[in-house]
Amino acid sequence: MQTLETARLTLRPFTAEDADFVLDLYSRMEVQRFLGVDPKLMRDRSEATTLIEAWTRRDDGTCGIWAVQEQDTGKLAGTLLLKPIPASGPERKPSGDIEIGWHFHPDSWGKGYASEAGVAVLAHAFAAGLPQVVAVTNPANTASMRVCKKIGMIPRGTTDRYYNTVCELFTAENPG
Ligand SMILES: CC(C)(COP(=O)(O)OP(=O)(O)OC[C@H]1O[C@@H](n2cnc3c(N)ncnc32)[C@H](O)[C@@H]1OP(=O)(O)O)[C@@H](O)C(=O)NCCC(=O)NCCS
Repeated sequence: MQTLETARLTLRPFTAEDADFVLDLYSRMEVQRFLGVDPKLMRDRSEATTLIEAWTRRDDGTCGIWAVQEQDTGKLAGTLLLKPIPASGPERKPSGDIEIGWHFHPDSWGKGYASEAGVAVLAHAFAAGLPQVVAVTNPANTASMRVCKKIGMIPRGTTDRYYNTVCELFTAENPG
């Protein structure tokens, strides 16, 4: 998986040593509250380790799950995701679309990090030849919708096409 650099951040693969950070991030309701229909808090380190292993398997050279790290401190700030998005329906089959997403630690909110990392991953996706990237947010997730707009994604209104729920949809087309 390609490591990506921005002005302030390094986006690199997660490793087993990141399990404490992953647990700290996903055990917080302020992080989980808009993720999924029925948010569940992570409870122990073994769940974090299992999640990191699952993320590693998602790496196909284009899609992947990046650990976002501050360059000047080495501190982890969050997660940037580029992955197939499941269609609504009982089987949650792949929709054929690729989604971008961001989950940041509250200590790192409000610094523009999600937008900075999102720009880098969108550029990576288009350099790899993806024709389009989508993002979906809970309609109440103002911060995430703001990130979508700041990185140039176009609001497309609400959709029930994904995740068996109603989301705000944003899209970005490959400019190439
Ligand atoms: C969404 C999230 C990644 C944003 O992280 P961030 O690092 O603060 O994002 P940025 O600093 O790049 O940009 C956030 C923007 O939203 C704005 N914002 C933040 N909270 C807001 C709120 N409650 N109401 C309105 N705007 C808000 C900020 O002012 C900023 O816009 P600006 O630069 O024009 O001022 C972060 O809140 C998060 O991880 N939330 C939990 C996980 C989550 O919900 N992820 C998205 C799933 S779709």
